[in-house]
Amino acid sequence: MASKVVLITGASRGIGLACNRWLAGRGYIVFGTSRYPDQHPDSLFPLLELDVTNEESVHACVEHVIRIQGRIDVLVNNAGISLSGAIEDASPEDIRQILETNLIGVHRMVQAVLPHMRKQGSGLIINMSSLAGLVGVPYLGIYATSKHALEGYTESLRYEVRDFGVKVVLIEPGDIHTSITGALPANRNAAYDGVREQAESIHHTNVKNGPPPEKVARVLGKIIESRNPRLRYTVTRGTETLLPIARRLLPHWIVERFIREAYKL
Ligand SMILES: NC(=O)c1ccc[n+]([C@@H]2O[C@H](COP(=O)([O-])OP(=O)(O)OC[C@H]3O[C@@H](n4cnc5c(N)ncnc54)[C@H](OP(=O)(O)O)[C@@H]3O)[C@@H](O)[C@H]2O)c1
Repeated sequence: MASKVVLITGASRGIGLACNRWLAGRGYIVFGTSRYPDQHPDSLFPLLELDVTNEESVHACVEHVIRIQGRIDVLVNNAGISLSGAIEDASPEDIRQILETNLIGVHRMVQAVLPHMRKQGSGLIINMSSLAGLVGVPYLGIYATSKHALEGYTESLRYEVRDFGVKVVLIEPGDIHTSITGALPANRNAAYDGVREQAESIHHTNVKNGPPPEKVARVLGKIIESRNPRLRYTVTRGTETLLPIARRLLPHWIVERFIREAYKL
């Protein structure tokens, strides 16, 4: 069988880059993207230009792959941004920006790719969510909001495109060692001073000490090779592993206590 054609958004660094390398090393035809491909001239893989917040950019990127390969078997919606800080401090514009990339950006890609997958009668769409898509996270609340929205979006989409032969999957990593940093809202309300910085510092340390992004790439590889992928794949370690299970099976106060303790609240 011909190699599968995979399009990965946000492959200039972090999880996207690791996934690009992993799949390319295993014979897949991989197209990774960046908003600034010229800034990565030494990349092992040429990056296509893509800004998921821009409709024209999305269409140009997808049409480029279709022109060269005639098909897209797998779309990995990995591009994402974060936002630290108290929810009260986030401006409507801050929230709009996060949703533009983490939710509406995914939707733009899905809209551009689905007609091709429908024509093919097959396809796989993998959306990069987060454990923060399953539980609320203090001082990462707007990011968690965007990933919760992505969870509902993906779960619903899965029903609608199944009959076209298109499968839809979520990956939910815990903390992974990448350079992802939450932008800070311009406003920093003094009422949260101290507690907010402590929570942000714990989160920063967790990401720094997280497993390498190749751990996500391995799971991605497994999903692509699976005949019937599940809706959700978590990528966790240590006590994080308990969180999705606890959320499903235990009363919420236990989850809340776990998270309060983790963030020293
Ligand atoms: N690291 C973690 O602990 C963790 C945990 C759970 C989930 N995740 C999720 O995993 C995904 C990747 O995260 P990461 O940690 O690898 O982050 P990262 O190192 O900051 O990489 C983010 C990628 O997204 C791209 N990107 C950002 N805005 C974009 C836009 N508007 N259009 C197109 N591409 C854009 C960036 O590319 P350019 O800047 O080159 O355009 C970059 O390649 C995100 O969805 C994130 O929410 C991460």
